[in-house]
Amino acid sequence: MANACKLAAGNWKMNGLRADLLEARALARAFPSPDCGILLCPPATLISAMAEAVRNTAIMVGGQDCHARENGAHTGDISAQMLADAGARHVILGHSERRADHAESSGDVAAKALAAHAAGLVTIICVGETEAERDAGKTLDVVLGQLRNSLPEKSTAANTVIAYEPVWAIGTGRTPTREQISEVHDALRGAVPDAAMSLLYGGSVKPGNAAEIFAIGNVDGALVGGASLKAEDFGAIITALEAA
Ligand code: 13P
Repeated sequence: MANACKLAAGNWKMNGLRADLLEARALARAFPSPDCGILLCPPATLISAMAEAVRNTAIMVGGQDCHARENGAHTGDISAQMLADAGARHVILGHSERRADHAESSGDVAAKALAAHAAGLVTIICVGETEAERDAGKTLDVVLGQLRNSLPEKSTAANTVIAYEPVWAIGTGRTPTREQISEVHDALRGAVPDAAMSLLYGGSVKPGNAAEIFAIGNVDGALVGGASLKAEDFGAIITALEAA
């Protein structure tokens, strides 16, 4: 485990209605004083209600994206300041689903990150290769290129977390080998502008494989999709991280 803060982050993606806030409440009850950071990133519609539901608990709430501008004529978009105002402390940026579905470039991600930092949010910047890029031997080139171009100047361990999420491992039940995760996380550690930046792994993290993943050097936590929707599953992952 590197000398960086441990963080278990849940990305609910486009899942969750008000009734699902009970999962956040259950998590808050189960972890009154955890040995790692715990973050839930629900859809934007739930941020305010979730922040209220977990007020004065150890659970932090975050957004899944923000616009690069503070305000203006951008129908359907949400600014970083709005996320912070709703109770978010973090925001995920550059998730591969946004890079693919919304053609977000690393330059776009850097502009959003600048806005997020200005609003006082901690950014979770996602990087990761596709299967074709891995097969072509380009994994480190792709990941380090995304890292270089997605981080604004003045990114520090206090305002930035990196999440390595191989695209082919997201929602597929396939996870990279220990060596594959290790190779990328070691390279990220050498490339981040602040050595104390937390490096999360994401992609099919489950209760059954979490401990093994957290035992890998330079893995400081996880960005969890499907298994973060239920307090029981996410709780088991958090427990594994606490023990790592
Ligand atoms: P899964 O954990 O569902 O594979 O999703 C990972 C992810 O994309 C988190 O951002």
